Amino acid sequence: MTSAFTAPSILPPLFPFTRQSRSLEPPIEYAQLRSDPSKHVSRVTLWDGSTPFLLVKHQDICDALVDDRLSKERNRPGFPEMSAGGKAAAQNKPTFVDMDSPAHMNQRRMVEGLFTKEQIDSQRPHIQKVVADQLDEMIKKGCDKPVDLVEAFALAIPSYIIYGILGTPNSDLKYLTSKNATRTNGSATASEASNANKELLDYFGALVEEKMKNPADDLISKLVQEQLLTGHLAKEDVVQIAFLMLVAGNATMVNMINLGVIALLDHPDQLRDLLQDPSLVKPFVEELCRYYVASSFATRRVAKVDVTIGGQLIKAGEGVIAATQSGSRDESVFPNADVFDLHRQRGIEAGLGFGYGPHECVAEWLARAELESVFSVLFQTLPNLRLAVKKEDLELTPSTKDIGVVALPVLW
Ligand code: HEM
Repeated sequence: MTSAFTAPSILPPLFPFTRQSRSLEPPIEYAQLRSDPSKHVSRVTLWDGSTPFLLVKHQDICDALVDDRLSKERNRPGFPEMSAGGKAAAQNKPTFVDMDSPAHMNQRRMVEGLFTKEQIDSQRPHIQKVVADQLDEMIKKGCDKPVDLVEAFALAIPSYIIYGILGTPNSDLKYLTSKNATRTNGSATASEASNANKELLDYFGALVEEKMKNPADDLISKLVQEQLLTGHLAKEDVVQIAFLMLVAGNATMVNMINLGVIALLDHPDQLRDLLQDPSLVKPFVEELCRYYVASSFATRRVAKVDVTIGGQLIKAGEGVIAATQSGSRDESVFPNADVFDLHRQRGIEAGLGFGYGPHECVAEWLARAELESVFSVLFQTLPNLRLAVKKEDLELTPSTKDIGVVALPVLW
């Protein structure tokens, strides 16, 4: 006799994991998975019931992110999407962030020249001025009552700097910053955020037309001259790339500024060291981007053919999530990985905060230069800068999303 009973199958754990309440530390599941070799490459369950593989070890993450048998093309079946909105967006025409090479490299090269280390070094005086001006403005407003450092300082910095690179007229900065804030600050409704998105795309559409008539020395003009007018890109592509460069790192940059403030306030001895020796700003920023990985869900792929990673067979069409937040805390690569230490001895191991391999953040030198500029002046100018609320009362981003704070009330 056959039984109608079928044993319930045990689903792999739900992903994203949840951070501890009121904590900026990675979810504890990452450390648990890292400590069990049989779970270094194991399945998780996403919102839509799909069960991609999660990689938690530094080496497996690096191996996966340089493997061109794993694809970033989000319209491939099996690509792990994190939400229904993401799944819908995956059907849009992609920019290079969602392409595989050779198309990926072809398009990435169109912008890469403006973000090399040398190019960014030449921009440092401008970056420092943007930071100094924003700090002056915040100080001028005074701190009779707590000031939100996000609103008064951090939010504007990445925007103003990328506008300069893109070539938007100065007279439009306030308009653009307010639209961009509506998109990213989380307090807007979905329809306000989507209107702001559309207005920004329309704005860039008009700006591309303008740059066709009056080119200048900026990224949009470069794309117009070298790609649009030569037939390599359509106008829509130029608009999408400009938009990508505006939005890709904006919220993350803001969060990394906030997290840098928190890291220094949490470690007054290291803050004192930094104030005494300004050359420590570089190792501080490296440690910050290792310790707090504020963009940890971008590193997702789908296998184009059967691939073995960390001894686990991943079949064609199966998804892979490289947990960079976990890899950056891998004890086998970073001793005392859960300790924030700007004096840490650094080897060649990548911190993974900017990803790894061909899709590694195209603007990482810009991001470092912005963070270095901020942490070369912020506490030096305001040595009494402190939280205006208890740390445990800070409003954090939702516990299954990328780490960050929604507001950072301070006094000085
Ligand atoms: C501290 C700030 C930043 C962090 C932590 C960060 C993090 C990342 C990460 C993890 C990736 C890799 C995605 C992957 O492997 O699929 C990435 C890619 C990218 N980032 Fe950033 N980013 C930052 C700032 C920026 C800024 C300021 C910009 C723009 C001006 C930017 C533009 C991009 C673009 C266009 C890509 C796609 C590169 C490609 O696919 O070839 N990022 N970023």
